[in-house]
Amino acid sequence: MKKFAVVILLLAVAFALLQLARPSIPSQPATAEVQAPPEVRQVLEKGCYSCHSDERKLAWFDEVVPAYWLVRHDVLTAREHLNFSTLGSKPAAVQRATLFEAVNMIQLGAMPLPSFRKVHPEAKIMPEDMAILKNYLAPWSIKPPHAAATLQNATQALVNLDAVQPEFNGQAFDAAFEGWKLLSITDRGDNNTLRVILGNEIAMQAVQRGNLSPWPDGARIAKIAWQQQTGEDGLIYPGSFVQIELMVKDHARYKDTEGWGWGRWRGFGLTPYGKDAAFVNECTSCHLPVRGNDYVYTLPVTSAAAGGEEIVNRHAAAFPAGLPYQPLGWNVITTYVDPERRTTAVLFGNDQAMKAVSARGPMAQASQYPAGAVLSLVTWAQRDDPHWFGARIPDAPISVEFVQVASTGQASAYRGFGGAGLAEEHPTVNDSEQKTHFIEALMPTRLP
Ligand code: HEC
Ligand code: HEC
Repeated sequence: MKKFAVVILLLAVAFALLQLARPSIPSQPATAEVQAPPEVRQVLEKGCYSCHSDERKLAWFDEVVPAYWLVRHDVLTAREHLNFSTLGSKPAAVQRATLFEAVNMIQLGAMPLPSFRKVHPEAKIMPEDMAILKNYLAPWSIKPPHAAATLQNATQALVNLDAVQPEFNGQAFDAAFEGWKLLSITDRGDNNTLRVILGNEIAMQAVQRGNLSPWPDGARIAKIAWQQQTGEDGLIYPGSFVQIELMVKDHARYKDTEGWGWGRWRGFGLTPYGKDAAFVNECTSCHLPVRGNDYVYTLPVTSAAAGGEEIVNRHAAAFPAGLPYQPLGWNVITTYVDPERRTTAVLFGNDQAMKAVSARGPMAQASQYPAGAVLSLVTWAQRDDPHWFGARIPDAPISVEFVQVASTGQASAYRGFGGAGLAEEHPTVNDSEQKTHFIEALMPTRLP
C-alpha cells in the first residue's frame, strides 16, 4: 500500500514538472483584423479564433500538458495557413475569397478541426451562424462587367504549348487538354469566373463506367477558368482567360499528394503558379474535405450509376436516346450563363465543326463552319453545387438544339428539343433562322 502511494506521488510530481515543459504560444492584439461586420466577426471569433488569430484563447484543459503540446501545434499551423488578425491587410478580393473558403470548410465539416469540436461544443457553428456568413458573402451579388467590343478580342500573342514550363513540383503541362471532353461546368459567384472541367480519355471511360472510387491511374482532369463578362445580350460569357489547372492520377507516383499530381498555369503566358513546390499544399488542403470523392470536387455529367454518395451528376445527363446525336461525346466550343433564367449552356461541335474552331487562333467566324459541321447547344437549369457554396452546376437539361451546316449558299438545318422529356419542337421558319444565327455566331472561347 505504501509503495502504491509513493508511485502516485512520483507520478504527480512528474506530471507537475511536465507542466513546466511549456513552449509559449505567442499572443498579441490583432494588427489588421479581417474587415467584416461585427456579427460576421463574432461567428469567426467563436469558432475559429482559438486557432486562426493572434489572440490566445484556450480553455483550462487545453493548458494541461500533454494536451497543450497538441493544441500549440494546431494553433501555430493554423495561424500559418490563415490568420484573421492579419488578414485585414490583404486586398478586399483576397479577404472575400478567404471567407468563402472558410464557409466551405465549415460546410464540408472540415473546420473547426473535428478533434477540437469534440471537446469544445461551444465553438460549434450553428445553422444561424452559417446564415450570417452566407448572407454577408452573397455570391453573384457583384455583377460581371460589360464586355462591349473587347469580348474575346484576340490581341495577345499565343504561347507555344509545348514549351510551357513545368510546375515547381515537376508536374509537366499537358498540351493535349484541348482535345479532352466535358466533365462539367461551374458558374462561380464567389469570384465571377466561368469554369470548364475536361477529362482525358481514361477519365472519360472511368466516368462512363461510374468507376470513380478511386479514379484510375492515367486519368487526367483539366479545369479552365475565365473571368465572366456580360455580353450586349445580357448573357454572361467567358471573358479574359485566367488559368488552367491539372490533376493527374497516379496513386503510387503521387502518394505524398493524395494520389494526384497538381499544377496550375496562370495568364496568357501560362506561368507556373507559386514560389516553390510547397504551392501544392494549397491544392491538397482545399481538396481534402472531398477525400470521400478521391479529392475531386466536380460531379461529372454522366448517366452512369456510381455507388454510395452522390459522386456523379446524373440529372444533367438525362438525354433521350432518340436525339439525332449525343453531344456530350463532342468537344466544347464555348459556354455561357443566362443570369435571368438561371440557366447555363454549352456549345458543342462535332469533328467537322472543331476543324474550323481554332480556339487558339484568331476568332472563328460563324460563316467559317464547313458543310457537314454540326453544332449542338445544350441548355441546363442551374442548381447550387452541393460541394461549394458560391458555385452553380448544371441541373436537368431543358433544351438541346442542333444546327447542321449546309454547303455555301444553302440554309443550315435547325432542330430543337425541349420541354418535358425533351420532345422535338417545331418552331416557325423565322424562329429557326434566329436560333440558327444565334448558335452559329457564338464565339469560341479564347485559350492561350
Ligand atoms: C483547433 C484548431 C483549429 C480551429 C478551432 C479551426 N481551425 Fe482551421 N485550420 C487548423 C489547422 C491546423 C489548419 C491547417 C491545415 C490542416 O491541418 O488542414 C487549418 C486550416 C484552415 C483553412 C485552410 C487555410 C489554407 O489556406 O490553407 C481554413 C479555410 C480554415 N482552417 C478555416 C477555419 C474556420 C472557418 C474555422 C472556424 C469555424 C477554423 N478553421 C477553426 C486548425 C483549426
Ligand atoms: C480554395 C479552395 C481550392 C483550392 C486552394 C484549390 N482548389 Fe481545385 N477546386 C476547388 C473547387 C471548389 C473545385 C470545383 C470546381 C469549381 O467550381 O471550380 C475545384 C476543382 C479542381 C479541378 C477539377 C477537378 C475537381 O476536383 O473538381 C482541378 C484540376 C483542380 N481543382 C486543381 C487544383 C490545383 C492544381 C490547385 C492548387 C494549385 C487547386 N485546385 C487548389 C477548390 C480549390
